[in-house]
Amino acid sequence: MFGFRNGWRGVLDSTVERLDRRSTQGILLRGGTVLGTSRTNPISEPDGVARITETLEVHELDGLIVIGGEGTLSASRVLSEEHGVPIIGVPKTIDNDLGGTDFTIGFSTAVDVATDAVDRLHSTAESHNRIMVLELMGRHVGWIATYAGLAGGADAILVPERSFDINKVCRHLKRRHGMGRSFSIVVVAEGAVPAEGTMALPDYETDDFGRPVLGGIANIIGPEIERQTGFETRVTVLGHVQRGGRPNATDRVLGSSLGKAAMDHAAEGNWGIMVGQDGAHVTTASLGEATRELKTVPSEMFETARVFFG
Ligand code: F6P
Repeated sequence: MFGFRNGWRGVLDSTVERLDRRSTQGILLRGGTVLGTSRTNPISEPDGVARITETLEVHELDGLIVIGGEGTLSASRVLSEEHGVPIIGVPKTIDNDLGGTDFTIGFSTAVDVATDAVDRLHSTAESHNRIMVLELMGRHVGWIATYAGLAGGADAILVPERSFDINKVCRHLKRRHGMGRSFSIVVVAEGAVPAEGTMALPDYETDDFGRPVLGGIANIIGPEIERQTGFETRVTVLGHVQRGGRPNATDRVLGSSLGKAAMDHAAEGNWGIMVGQDGAHVTTASLGEATRELKTVPSEMFETARVFFG
């Protein structure tokens, strides 16, 4: 068993190191990755596919176990389906946006960190009678925002799945305060966008889905909430704090079960799949099922959260 440093970069550059019990001892409790990672997309690299095939041949590898999120596993799908590279995927992203699995490794820990942030913001919100806006990660989906918002009892949760009307959000907050509440918590996923025509926005680019890439949405809506409601408002952007630190028990168990399952399938030569979780069981899906569509938050969760959308 060999490991590649810095994700696809290591495979392209053919820099391997042996992974054995000794070199992997004690990593269960650690966040991040001991191998390092990069945002390299092997498909868009010059001779990327040829270099990957060559790396497998040179080191006499049977195949690759690829651990990553939507970008990493989408590249895996292309390499597997179009170029016959033997790959087994393992879903690892805090975003929880991959198909073929209930949960991805990292999501649960990120939700714990984000929920803790909501809890802590309650202190200032309550004692200073403020509206606190918390921006969480999630460029394309609002899993972290929805879970942490629900768990922390947020008063409004804004997610990329549904554009929001800031005027409605403000009316809701004013109604709350009118009923005697002296504070509110608004959780917003970084990729949440205002419904067209509902709010003046700074100049922006658009993403692959044609949606505005606003950058710092909380800093855009915070002042608007203060302006419309008249309540003092503060903004927190949690950022990479959500993606670090010790993994929680759920993520450790998920990582261990999916890691073992990936090894079992590799031993049987069962390539072209992603291992995942289905209820209490480990399951498999094709790399296509895992990546063709982003797994979004189901609408019943929004109903549970009584989310306010445009
Ligand atoms: O891994 C996915 C993700 O956590 C997104 O939620 C977030 O937008 C992005 O990574 C941040 O990426 P980077 O660390 O490259 O800024």
